[in-house]
Amino acid sequence: MHVLGIDIGGSGIKGAVVDVATGTLATPRHRIPTPEPATPEAVVETVARVVQHFAWQGPIGCGFPAVVKGGIIHTAANISPRWIGTNGQQMFEQATGSPVALLNDADAAGLAEMRHGAGQGRGGLVLMLTIGTGIGTALFIDGRLVPNTELGHIEIRGKDAERRASDAARERKGLRWRAWAADLDEYLRRISALLWPDLIIIGGGASREFEKFAPHLSVHVELLPAVLRNEAGMIGAALYAHEHVPVAA
Ligand code: BGC
Repeated sequence: MHVLGIDIGGSGIKGAVVDVATGTLATPRHRIPTPEPATPEAVVETVARVVQHFAWQGPIGCGFPAVVKGGIIHTAANISPRWIGTNGQQMFEQATGSPVALLNDADAAGLAEMRHGAGQGRGGLVLMLTIGTGIGTALFIDGRLVPNTELGHIEIRGKDAERRASDAARERKGLRWRAWAADLDEYLRRISALLWPDLIIIGGGASREFEKFAPHLSVHVELLPAVLRNEAGMIGAALYAHEHVPVAA
């Protein structure tokens, strides 16, 4: 069973056909840089180009970097504020001619890691972080997603946590991994004191360098790097669509 998975990120819009039984890519991924500014028209047009690349007709799962409820976009931390209140699902369906299941990008990545990656078989409270342009969070209780958590936006010393500890913040401040680890540690300690998770999975761009910063973290919680890396968002979006898009008989 194949589903097209799309991941809309701060720097790129990526798509691949996903084998939802194995949670693996069935085609190479196709990536187009995220348009700037990331207005609804520009992003919808780019997603349509990704879909055309695969000549895809059929269910599409799409991870989106905002709170998404019933297809409606509710926040816009790293995208154009014009998205707020729009029916993203309907816009993507009109532009692609296919049924689209839209969900938060970190929730998508988390679903993939829980089913086929670092969180496989893990019960209890698991928090997945996607550390990239922002900090996305996906929370699981005994394998079940609690959707749309926005824990990257807790306030730390008067500032939005993702402005302090995201990968984009590391690059902006020109920090070495060890120095950035102190910012990340402060965030992880705070979030752990609030949620007491059993496991935190670290994904997103920064997860590739896990070995460089993990030794400098002091937080008392089990930490694992994501294993599906930058494929997690596409895989999870496809899994979600497979379970939520009604299949025509
Ligand atoms: C957004 C989240 C998103 C995360 C990662 C945050 O700024 O508020 O909805 O999951 O970035 O893209």
